[in-house]
Amino acid sequence: MFVSQLFAFSELEFVSCNCVKLTLFRAENSYFCDLKPRDHFMIDEQHLKQFQLFFDSYMESFLQIDEDVTTHIKLKYDHTLKVKKLTEEIGESLHFTETEMLLASTIALFHDLGRFQQFAEHRTFDDSKSVNHAQLSVDILQQKQILKDLPESEQELILTAIKNHNRFEIEEVDENVSTFCKIIRDADKLDALRIMVDHYKQVNVKPNVLAHNLPVSNEVAPKIVKALKNHKSVLKADVVTTTDFKLLQMGWVFDLNFKRSFQLLSEMQLIKKLYDTLPKNDQIIELYRIIKIYLENQLL
Ligand SMILES: [Fe+2]
Repeated sequence: MFVSQLFAFSELEFVSCNCVKLTLFRAENSYFCDLKPRDHFMIDEQHLKQFQLFFDSYMESFLQIDEDVTTHIKLKYDHTLKVKKLTEEIGESLHFTETEMLLASTIALFHDLGRFQQFAEHRTFDDSKSVNHAQLSVDILQQKQILKDLPESEQELILTAIKNHNRFEIEEVDENVSTFCKIIRDADKLDALRIMVDHYKQVNVKPNVLAHNLPVSNEVAPKIVKALKNHKSVLKADVVTTTDFKLLQMGWVFDLNFKRSFQLLSEMQLIKKLYDTLPKNDQIIELYRIIKIYLENQLL
């Protein structure tokens, strides 16, 4: 049992060297620490270069199908590069070693690999209407043996983080693996929010692929109000309209894991920008206030 599992902590800080990782936890006015040996990984720069070459050529193989596929494939390619950058920012804030950073970057690079095939075959990014894109990413990496030059344990870590990036909750995994799962989940949500904010500005009034073709309505499902008031993420199954979907995305704030992620969310003003695209009524104004206060508290 780790100290972090015993208390509700308001802040985490990592002080690292190549051999050990010292984690400082703050709970109210007390500090606790946790000292663990660091993992040593075999991944190197050359591996990541090879992975990037594969990723680029794999993406290009989908560009000849038609214009609709090309547009959506390019959007996911751009998303991947931005998620990789956000991953590095979060990794730096955690004082990641060079090999930890290379692993986190590999996870970011491949986390949405399955999106290309998903869109080419199903013309949607809605997993519930097509395939689980995270599992598909894992399947493609395994079938093509892309990670074969890495030790088994590092392959397993990468695949576990990818498989968990779109789950409602992370499955039970080792704490070190869990850190990698949390980083990709945070980075992915931050860039998904950026994409949606840009997208809603252009096509706010009609159903569209990125909003999963949901009907436009000002109504909010009661289960969504209840979840957000309790500082909980919204279940996709409870989403009925585009307004619900936007609130689900605003509720991602309750599933972020690192202080740097909250800072990035705040710096990009994504919650405010998303709120600006929502219809205004007492319920929505109240939910925005709850989310805003929660975010501000994470930045203290
Ligand atoms: Fe993603």
